[in-house]
Amino acid sequence: MTTVLRADGLVKEYRPRGGFFARRAPVRVVDGVDLELRAGEAVAIVGESGAGKTTVSRMLALLEKPTHGRISLGDKDVTTIGARGLREFRRQVQIVFQNPYESLDPRHTVRVAAGEPLDINRIGSRAERAERTREVLRIVGLTPVERYLDRYPHELSGGQRQRVAIARALAVGPSVLIADEPVSMLDASIRSSILNLLSDLQSTLHLAIVFVTHDLATARFMSERLMVMYRGEVVETGPTEDVLAAPDHPYTRLLLSAAGNRLADHGKETL
Ligand SMILES: Nc1ncnc2c1ncn2[C@@H]1O[C@H](COP(=O)(O)OP(=O)(O)OP(=O)(O)O)[C@@H](O)[C@H]1O
Ligand SMILES: [Mg+2]
Repeated sequence: MTTVLRADGLVKEYRPRGGFFARRAPVRVVDGVDLELRAGEAVAIVGESGAGKTTVSRMLALLEKPTHGRISLGDKDVTTIGARGLREFRRQVQIVFQNPYESLDPRHTVRVAAGEPLDINRIGSRAERAERTREVLRIVGLTPVERYLDRYPHELSGGQRQRVAIARALAVGPSVLIADEPVSMLDASIRSSILNLLSDLQSTLHLAIVFVTHDLATARFMSERLMVMYRGEVVETGPTEDVLAAPDHPYTRLLLSAAGNRLADHGKETL
């Protein structure tokens, strides 16, 4: 299968700033992460808080520059592309954030929020953009579309807002979606519907997904491949079921025992 997005040796260092600490050595929060995402495949990045998951996903989305390492889209090195290359990149790689309350502009209606990436990229005619906006809203299940088009974020539930954020990400027809803990801010009762939506999108749109989570059961439900991060490093990677059946690294075993019965007894059904 073709590789859509690839990372080689990603490193991110932050330099502690100011005063007494000004001369301190940089802190390495991501240390040598490799990733190969194939077309239509879902990879989960799992790890505890502070492991570096968000930093990796932001680098993959080119929202943050790696200190070292390389990111490629297809066979093209995109690590240091300019504004124009970046616009092209964003047509292929989109990101959904953890908090739909923050990621959506409160002054923008659903119509504007979902259609904006098409306007920014000047994709299609006005009529085509309007139709595409409706189409992506239908795809994410905000139907009948007329009921939602003119609503503002504060008039939507958390789950509906995350659907708008997903519609917005899909508008330009990306081949990769990076989702950083997309359900962790949502009510437990609606989490599985959003996970199901993402899973459906993966198969119907042949979308490759990088799914970030601290929860192993969610990772299992969402991914074919698993990457376990611990303190900035990937400590284990492989097909999700293989890793869970026979974890190599002590940290993976720890995660597994913490997930406990949810995984062992019912697995996917509990979600
Ligand atoms: N802009 C920054 N400046 C300095 N340190 C940062 C910055 N961003 C992140 N870090 C540090 O990098 C480490 C990794 O953070 P990151 O947000 O990637 O972790 P995470 O795995 O996403 O955690 P969580 O599960 O809590 O979201 C943390 O120790 C964090 O404090
Ligand atoms: Mg995070």
